[in-house]
Amino acid sequence: MNQNLTTYYKERAKEYDQVYQIPEEQNDLLQSAQLFQTIFAGNSVLEIACGTGYWTEQISKTANSVLATDINEAVIDIAKTRNLPGNVNFKVADMNSLSADQPFEGLFGGFIWSHILLEELDELLDKLRNHLLPGADIVFIDSRPVKGKSHDPKMITRVDEQGNTFQTRQLENGTTFEVLKNFPSTSFLEEKMARVATDIRVMELEYYWIASGKIKDR
Ligand SMILES: C[S@@+](CC[C@H](N)C(=O)[O-])C[C@H]1O[C@@H](n2cnc3c(N)ncnc32)[C@H](O)[C@@H]1O
Repeated sequence: MNQNLTTYYKERAKEYDQVYQIPEEQNDLLQSAQLFQTIFAGNSVLEIACGTGYWTEQISKTANSVLATDINEAVIDIAKTRNLPGNVNFKVADMNSLSADQPFEGLFGGFIWSHILLEELDELLDKLRNHLLPGADIVFIDSRPVKGKSHDPKMITRVDEQGNTFQTRQLENGTTFEVLKNFPSTSFLEEKMARVATDIRVMELEYYWIASGKIKDR
């Protein structure tokens, strides 16, 4: 079975936006969008793993600028069809090896935390911090495991020695992938965020968690 996350999202690109049509999640989506628009108002924002640009569009409504990056050109091509305002720029880039001319006032990562190996989180957060000003707002959102819904804990098909959890997923063309999908606890999120941020807040919505904070002074 294919275990390559980049290939999975490349092949899923055209069907990805279905996740934003789930009726019972609309409340959480609206609440999250409003929160991000408040947090990032007037900021220059670096977005990692922007995918098809759902959150890019929401954040661009109040941010001063958004540099939206993703490793897959296929998803960025779809994001570009949203015809977003001139304060948005897209760039194909791996979040592990980003280059940028100037530090940003905000960092956003939507539904990417769950796809980062537990043992690689610290290193990634340190790298991302290098692109941020002290006091920059840093925000992640991702899925909570909810019984009977799209992230039912029963869908976990493998747990590795480090505690990373994996799901088996099938695309519309029948291809199957084993995908890393971690479900962090609030205390784990607080502990990891504390490495780079202060003013940490972890919110639990019905289907999502949101972790936010402000980048520490050096
Ligand atoms: C679950 S999707 C989230 C997309 C978007 N943020 C959203 O919330 O709708 C995960 C995204 O991460 C991207 N991705 C995976 N590995 C990456 C990496 N190393 N660097 C940048 N993007 C990556 C995939 O291409 C995919 O678009």
